[in-house]
Amino acid sequence: MQEMQAPLTGRPVISATGLFTPADSISNEELVASFNAFVDRHNAANPDAEPLAYSSVEFIEKASGIKARHVMSKAPILDPDTMCPRLPERENDELSIMAEIGVAAARQALERAGRKPEDVDAVLCAASNMQRAYPAMAIEIQQALGIEGFGFDMNVACSSATFGIQTAADYIRAGNARSVLVVSPEITSGHLNWRDRDSHFIFGDVATAVLVEDAAIAPAEHWAILGTKLKTVFSNNIRNNFGFLNRAAPETADTADKLFVQEGRKVFREVVPMVAQMILDEAERLGIDPEGLRRLWLHQANAGMNRLISTKVLGHEANEDESPTVLDTYGNTSSAGSIIAFHQHSDDLVAGDTGLICSFGAGYSAGTVFVRKVS
Ligand code: COA
Repeated sequence: MQEMQAPLTGRPVISATGLFTPADSISNEELVASFNAFVDRHNAANPDAEPLAYSSVEFIEKASGIKARHVMSKAPILDPDTMCPRLPERENDELSIMAEIGVAAARQALERAGRKPEDVDAVLCAASNMQRAYPAMAIEIQQALGIEGFGFDMNVACSSATFGIQTAADYIRAGNARSVLVVSPEITSGHLNWRDRDSHFIFGDVATAVLVEDAAIAPAEHWAILGTKLKTVFSNNIRNNFGFLNRAAPETADTADKLFVQEGRKVFREVVPMVAQMILDEAERLGIDPEGLRRLWLHQANAGMNRLISTKVLGHEANEDESPTVLDTYGNTSSAGSIIAFHQHSDDLVAGDTGLICSFGAGYSAGTVFVRKVS
């Protein structure tokens, strides 16, 4: 490819993004009907125990802003006797399901950038859960796409994608790569406890891909990465104890901690100020007026959190144009949320517009990626 011969600049840009959305979606009404059927059965079967309480559509929408979520395995999740995804195991010589949806998103990003797989140097699979310990999902995705070079997995929970973008950007800055795919397949339905009233409505499945490249080889229309910043602060308020050391745990109520658990209120209270301050500090370091940001593509966990963060950053409550929501139809898709928002709501911006991709979640972890449209 002729353009690949251009001298490298060491300046990272986002050349394109890709998105895979599962065909099936569960509305709050469907979800609550199934949950409440489970509650009825549970209470009838355990007359002496403290009765479980119903979930409600109104609560879910008011507390979170979520109206629906896409999933890879709808019927088993809604079946009150199952209430989890049932994704049949595949043979080792078949493409695994996480790789399959990652490849779909990655292909779209490559197509949109006009990039051939053989011109990509590395694949990072950055997601909150990997479907196996090894070989790395990233290497399977790399192989399926026909990419040479290398790949590895990264897990920083909801901030995996922004941590992946900074890692990719650092390869470009150091001259170690020209083109890096950051793929985030998030089958979060597998780590959600669909029987837990406090959290059963939170997550959805999706895959995103971000192609980070040296400005020298990027397509004419791209997003310059002005700066990236990462932060982690240990907290037990979002936790999942599943791991290879407890693989034999029997399926009982005591195993609920092997799925996602959180102290939602504490997360809300502690993460909002941490992230708002991080954004303001990084904007100052980069010489960017936060109130002049054209758009915020924020992590999609809770509409109220995003309202508060955007108000602290922009100086006023953001409207949908300034801080678009995808949470309403996708739910919380962990690391993919801010990337879906960017993918679906960035084509209308013009050259010179500056925006922010920002993630936050378990760890705690948070990442900012300030970008400017170039064309
Ligand atoms: N249906 C009906 N009522 C419910 C309910 C449900 N599904 N789940 C909880 N409630 C009730 C509670 O029992 C409680 O009742 P009480 O006031 O009588 O005690 C009330 O609703 C409030 O519960 P609470 O858990 O305090 O709700 P909340 O307003 O904090 O909202 C979250 C819950 C999870 C939506 C919210 O805390 C949140 O989004 N936090 C941030 C989450 C986040 O970003 N996590 C990162 C994940 S990666």
